[in-house]
Amino acid sequence: MIKQAIIPLAGLGTRLLPLTSVLPKELLPICGKPGLEYILEECVQAGIKEIFLIISKKKKIIKKYFYSDDYYKKIIKAKKNNKKLKFEYSKIKKFRRLVKFVYQNSPRGTGDAVLKCKKLIKSNHFLMLLPDDLIFKNNCSLAMIKLHKQYNSSIIASKKVKTNDVSRWGIFKTENLSKNNFLIKDVIEKPTIKLAPSNHAVIGRYILPKKIFKILEKQKSGRNGEIHITDAIRTLIHQKNKFIGHVFAGKYLDCGTMQGYIEATKEVSKL
Ligand code: G1P
Repeated sequence: MIKQAIIPLAGLGTRLLPLTSVLPKELLPICGKPGLEYILEECVQAGIKEIFLIISKKKKIIKKYFYSDDYYKKIIKAKKNNKKLKFEYSKIKKFRRLVKFVYQNSPRGTGDAVLKCKKLIKSNHFLMLLPDDLIFKNNCSLAMIKLHKQYNSSIIASKKVKTNDVSRWGIFKTENLSKNNFLIKDVIEKPTIKLAPSNHAVIGRYILPKKIFKILEKQKSGRNGEIHITDAIRTLIHQKNKFIGHVFAGKYLDCGTMQGYIEATKEVSKL
């Protein structure tokens, strides 16, 4: 059973400057609540019971978001038990029961972030979510957990992207499996158009095997000097571990770029 999730949050957020010079991108509001809350809600609805939030010292404000009890207590008292305030505080406390904070003080990539949880993951597989990638209208994590049960395999979310955009994503080499699912034969982190084996991109939802930690421990840094989860997955695929790509049904919003963030605000307001 998949009950644990990892969410790497230690990235610098340079694509969202100047906003991220004062606020982590994951706390930027999308129609009244931080992007991170949408991701946490997805986890809760998918049955996740423990969520590791990987932050850095510079992003401690994310922890503060969940631990501002004195502030809430004072303001609730001053506003004479205002219902809305009590609701917000209880929501935060519910999330807090699920989240644990893990530190990654230098942003060395998603693979390095995941490795920080090596001793914390109990079962054979765990969920990882990239907070830039919001998926609405259909719970992608839940669909992937079901698929994992069916095939007893690692699963990665996928979406077709424009051929001209392949160098923005991890790209899969695929083999047909069933409607909306394919076997992953290979994956390359941000390839050139020439080297891209398809236009099926990696989207930030992964069900990964615990044995990825062993691979990550030995992995050398890749593109831009970072330890990429994609490279560790590639090693596992080459070692004949089964990975399935799942073309998810929901509406995808890329909140890691300013354009995407603006788009997300518009789209969420229509929901
Ligand atoms: C990361 C992954 C990439 C994936 C993308 C999805 O890239 O490294 O393989 O396609 O997320 O959003 P990043 O957005 O951190 O550049």
